[in-house]
Amino acid sequence: MSAVIEIDGLRKTFHSVRQGHRVAVDGFDLRVDAGQIHGFLGPNGSGKTTTLRALLGLVRADAGRMSVFGASSPQELPAVAGRVGAIVESPQFFGNFTAHRTLRLLALAGGVPTTRVDEVLEQVGLRDRGDERVKGYSLGMKQRLAVASALLKDPELLILDEPANGLDPAGIREMRDLMRSLSAAGVTVLLSSHILAEIQLICDHVTIISRGRRVAAGRVDEVLAGFDQHEFAVRVADPERAAQLLRAGGLAVTEHDDQLVVGGVDEPELITRTLGEQGIWVRELVPLRPDLESVFLELTGTTPHPTVPRQVDGSVLPDAAPRDAVIDLDVRADETREVQA
Ligand SMILES: Nc1ncnc2c1ncn2[C@@H]1O[C@H](COP(=O)(O)OP(=O)(O)OP(=O)(O)O)[C@@H](O)[C@H]1O
Ligand SMILES: [Mg+2]
Repeated sequence: MSAVIEIDGLRKTFHSVRQGHRVAVDGFDLRVDAGQIHGFLGPNGSGKTTTLRALLGLVRADAGRMSVFGASSPQELPAVAGRVGAIVESPQFFGNFTAHRTLRLLALAGGVPTTRVDEVLEQVGLRDRGDERVKGYSLGMKQRLAVASALLKDPELLILDEPANGLDPAGIREMRDLMRSLSAAGVTVLLSSHILAEIQLICDHVTIISRGRRVAAGRVDEVLAGFDQHEFAVRVADPERAAQLLRAGGLAVTEHDDQLVVGGVDEPELITRTLGEQGIWVRELVPLRPDLESVFLELTGTTPHPTVPRQVDGSVLPDAAPRDAVIDLDVRADETREVQA
């Protein structure tokens, strides 16, 4: 696999007279290989936008090595800039211009044939509204226009910071379909988002950042599998007796309102057989698979507390996380899993 984006040990500290030093990115690594749809996840303020801005030469990094298509960033970026389309946070457009005029100017400035303008407006669903002034656009329409601007040069690499921001459910689905069709056409996509279910649906790979450091990276299914406790939810008519029988059979059982959760189960047949042999018939047996949201909350330590509002910088510092929570599932050369201290 050839790397399209490589970031090693990126560091960025912002300095201000009032706030002092703020470490935004703290030795962060990221690798995106050709053809991936790669999700970039992290709580608010964890360093995603700063990372993308540094990668694209929009902010100067303090340390670290970065490259895009093998060209080191920022020095050699101009050589590959024509192959990269990016939106980093919400770009500002001139409100009095129409979307059509905006894109036309961007196309002319970027040396892109202006015939692309209608194509990208069509692609993002703005064909019929392209002649309206941008100041009359809704948030989601502005977001679509931003994506259209990133698509103008028919990029081989698309970097999108929060592309689903402000989109309605249909818009989110359309964005997902667009990402998939771009990926099928060979475009590599790096996508930051807070909509974790969406990332789980779209992305094949994921990198999770917390307080400027990488806490997990790898294929989405492998990251999730690292958190699979092989649990099953079981519903029966007599849960108390069922729990006794399952425990007697050596299984870990916790009793919830109207169901049992049985852990450490490799073969669900063990549950049905243990209960069935004693005349207890299973009404429902559901595997409890971890989803990206629960893994994200656990890895970043941002699970909401019912009564205490969480502060934006309250996510876990990766070094302080329990050792087994800091996983690195990077599938580089050998496709193996390693555990990082
Ligand atoms: N120009 C700046 N000056 C000072 N601090 C900054 C600046 N840009 C970012 N930061 C700080 O760096 C940290 C990381 O910010 P960043 O925008 O990278 O987070 P993010 O992961 O993109 O968050 P979000 O999910 O909210 O978009 C934050 O604490 C932020 O306050
Ligand atoms: Mg951001």
